[in-house]
Amino acid sequence: MMKIRLLLLFFIFSFSCLYAEDGSKLWLRYTPVSKEMAKNRSITADAKNPVAVQAQHELATFWKGQSIDLKLDKKLTHLKDGFKITGHRDRIKVTAHEPAGLLYAAYHLLQLQETDQQVLNLNVEEIPSFNIRMLNHWDNLDRTVERGYAGYSLWQWDDLPGQLSPRYEAYARANASIGINATVINNVNASPQILSSEYLLKLKGLSDVFRRYGIKVYLSVNFSSPKILGGTSDSDPLNPQVILWWKNKVKEIYSVIPDFGGFLVKANSEGQPGPQDYGRTHAEGANMLAAILKPYQALVMWRAFVYNPSTEDRAKQAYQEFVPLDGQFSDNVIIQIKNGPIDFQPREPFNPLFGALKKSHEMVEFQITQEYLGFSNHLVYLAPLFQETLDHDTYADGKGSTVARFTDGTLRPARKTAIAAVANIGDDTNWTGHHFAQANWYAYGRLAWNHQLASEQIAEEWIAMTFSKDKQFIAAVKEMMMTSREAAVNYMMPLGLHHIFAFDHHYGPEPWGDQKGGRPDWMPWYYHQADTIGVGFDRTARGSNAISQYSPHVANIYGDILLCPDQYLLWFHHVPWHYTMKSGLSLWDELCYQYDLGVKQVRDMQKVWDRLENQVDQQRFAEVQSKLKIQAKDAVWWKDACLLYFQTYSKRPIPYDIERPV
Ligand code: GCU
Repeated sequence: MMKIRLLLLFFIFSFSCLYAEDGSKLWLRYTPVSKEMAKNRSITADAKNPVAVQAQHELATFWKGQSIDLKLDKKLTHLKDGFKITGHRDRIKVTAHEPAGLLYAAYHLLQLQETDQQVLNLNVEEIPSFNIRMLNHWDNLDRTVERGYAGYSLWQWDDLPGQLSPRYEAYARANASIGINATVINNVNASPQILSSEYLLKLKGLSDVFRRYGIKVYLSVNFSSPKILGGTSDSDPLNPQVILWWKNKVKEIYSVIPDFGGFLVKANSEGQPGPQDYGRTHAEGANMLAAILKPYQALVMWRAFVYNPSTEDRAKQAYQEFVPLDGQFSDNVIIQIKNGPIDFQPREPFNPLFGALKKSHEMVEFQITQEYLGFSNHLVYLAPLFQETLDHDTYADGKGSTVARFTDGTLRPARKTAIAAVANIGDDTNWTGHHFAQANWYAYGRLAWNHQLASEQIAEEWIAMTFSKDKQFIAAVKEMMMTSREAAVNYMMPLGLHHIFAFDHHYGPEPWGDQKGGRPDWMPWYYHQADTIGVGFDRTARGSNAISQYSPHVANIYGDILLCPDQYLLWFHHVPWHYTMKSGLSLWDELCYQYDLGVKQVRDMQKVWDRLENQVDQQRFAEVQSKLKIQAKDAVWWKDACLLYFQTYSKRPIPYDIERPV
């Protein structure tokens, strides 16, 4: 009788698991080991640091294999916060230089376990590609999230510091499991209020939780904080009163958060205040803060995302402002540069600042939140996009000068190297709005840890840990993920088109948006420049000459219409509608087929997913399915809107074998 009841309970439990799965567990679905198993092996740690204790705890709870000894070795400086794992049948030895290394090793072992990899004769050494692997939250103090599509901010400011949501720890653990060790918790369009004593105490609440997972807190700061918060006459970085205010503020921060990481600054960009308001340069502004932070070994991440309404091509402006300042930045300033020269578009060539800055530290900023990629409605796996930038060869120091090697310390040695990405995390139950957007958080962390990992491998790991270890399931979902970024480029902006989004919210298409009376550089026509002759932004020497900001090797390729890869064609060239493409089609026909292909690719993604119905719990299956329906509708919307609009210039028919606009 008892047995039958247990069996019944088991079935009800399994059924409900298959039915209700809200995605809140992310990729961390380890199940605790049985008491029996735990008895037969030991997990020891020679360090008492809370991070090491956490490592020991994770393994003691979830590791189903042999005994493990965790050890710190102060001699192994070359490991940084990485680790070494050696072992065989009955014992594994983990060595790290930092306690965080032990924690990363613990998650590495659990990942091997969860993806069914062999753990018998391990000989692994992992050294992270970047010292600082950072998330940037664009979270406001009222809990709205700029460009956030997963609910409100995770940080419950009203309850902090007295009440700590359990999600803070879950967040820190998820980050640590993929090697993320830094977080900027507030929007780059920063409220000065974040530096008030009241908020610093709230922040202490968060940082005390994060510290146990090896994560340091950083803050975005508003350059006018001294005047607004401190009542100084201005916020001029050379004003002694202003400097004193920052000094005292930094001292106060360290009195509550002793391991505070530093500041992220968006200055003189999109209306934000900055040193230029007082006739000072970016370098003078950054160095003032850097000098104050230096005694604490802290950093300033100074953003290069700057542009103004002017007759100059927006794509050129950051380079024009920053290259003349090269060599003037202090050594604890890192210039944080968006991956492309415009703004997180579905596809951009790399930002020419990479490599062009010879004497300044540089880091990449990616965007995980899908501001320009269908918000949290579209399934777009971003690892291929991240990888495309990191692997791009700038040729700035000759062949092999990839963006990754410029920023990871190989070509420009730096005391601290870093990488950042704008988070896609909110208080939605599944954290990211779309279940598959979790993969982008995961993939960013994995690439920040090791920029040589392949997107395919990362997808496989994520699918196995998040959904199923079934090989066919993994293969099918992986293919869907790997196609998704190209699909989005195709149905939104193929062939190098960019920024033809609806004004400000950036969700759907609005290529016709040119006459709203707003800033021309915020209007789509500025970017596609369609006319009766052709379409595309001429950035060659005949046009804005943005091409000249790249090294000669790259400029020769992108600047030559015959050599320029199709994917960047309309980024660099204004191309006649009748121009014969590499495919033999006219530009107009090619454009039509690309848009159409994007739609087809999304429909194929739907078919793949529908076939997997019996292999996914019902809740996640249905939620992804309904998002894919939105995506398919949106893809048609994009295709129709863009083709019908561009057709008013091309005056050419849409090829007969393309789905008619509805
Ligand atoms: C984009 C985005 C803004 C954001 C800005 C930035 O322009 O639309 O919301 O503030 O990037 O990166 O600073």
